[in-house]
Amino acid sequence: MKDNCNRNIDYIRISVTDRCNMRCIYCMPEGGIKPVNHKQILTYDEIITICESLVRLGINKVKLTGGEPLVRKNIDILIDQIKRIDGIKSVTLTTNGRNLKEYLPRLIKAGLDGINISLDTLDSKIYEKITRRDALKNVLEALHESLKYDELKVKINCVPMLETDKEDIIKIAMLAKNSRLSVRFIEMMPIGLGKNYTYFSEDKIITILEEAFGHFEAIDDNLGNGPAHYYSVPAFQGKIGFISAISHQFCEQCNRVRLTSDGFLKTCLQYKNGTDLKSLLRGNLGDADLDQVISDTIYNKPKSHDFNENHENETYEKDNMSKIGG
Ligand code: GTP
Ligand code: 5AD
Ligand code: SF4
Repeated sequence: MKDNCNRNIDYIRISVTDRCNMRCIYCMPEGGIKPVNHKQILTYDEIITICESLVRLGINKVKLTGGEPLVRKNIDILIDQIKRIDGIKSVTLTTNGRNLKEYLPRLIKAGLDGINISLDTLDSKIYEKITRRDALKNVLEALHESLKYDELKVKINCVPMLETDKEDIIKIAMLAKNSRLSVRFIEMMPIGLGKNYTYFSEDKIITILEEAFGHFEAIDDNLGNGPAHYYSVPAFQGKIGFISAISHQFCEQCNRVRLTSDGFLKTCLQYKNGTDLKSLLRGNLGDADLDQVISDTIYNKPKSHDFNENHENETYEKDNMSKIGG
């Protein structure tokens, strides 16, 4: 499926819930957000109907996100159902890791292909400050368990802030030295509460890490479906990646759209553009009409984000990342 910029769209990020069991300062207010009413959340059957349509249009990779996807009950059943759709190549999940250890055996049994775990610091006090939860130990145990499943791809997502300690960045990078995982440093995007923080740029992080570990060699493999680009580093088992929406805009290569937990097909992280599929589905839209609506929506995907423009605009997304799924 091509959009109006001739980009091949083959990846859908599905947010299965807007709820979360953490309260990261750049994502959710301390008191949480008013959650979407359960009745407004897509059922697993509705998600499958939409996935089947997406697959007919050429999408073959699925990422499950939240809020925190593992707070939704029986997510392994959804994974299993998506994996059974003819044409699906991979189903992966992005989690904060807090509930992961207990859930892992079920996720593996359902056929999950990869897991991305958010980890912004290895200092338990700072972790608690950022996430407002005392959960670093749980997350590290879950990470350790995940690495036991050879077939599971494992990545770390780290969103450093301007005040993040250099030593912390080095320690997080070391995870990719000592085990078969990749670490990705993500530039904070000015979405929702993210607007209150300054991003730590890729160039600055590379300078810090090259000083500690030697020369970074850019590689072509994108090791997944998303916008990260990677480097190999001497003596590292895994790779170091960057998702640098601010300093290295990647919209020209964008291959993805999003489905929010309340059924809105969203074509770009930054804009409100998209279509309310839930209302259409609940109005008994047939398969052919659903395919047409989705195809028209994807075709009209915006050309690029506008994060570097320091202004507000009516068309910009106003929701927090927890509602959009990152
Ligand atoms: P893989 O490459 O398959 O591992 O997945 P991914 O990097 O797409 O998934 P993940 O959920 O771990 O997302 C990592 C970061 O990339 C999050 O901060 C997302 O918000 C960001 N991201 C993903 N897609 C886009 C996008 O289209 N635009 C922007 N600006 N950021 C994105
Ligand atoms: N900018 C960049 N990344 C963000 N995430 C959440 N909010 C932001 C933001 N404003 C990250 C989380 C998680 C991933 C899904 O998105 O840390 O790793
Ligand atoms: Fe939850 Fe992820 Fe948002 Fe943190 S960044 S509050 S873990 S959804």
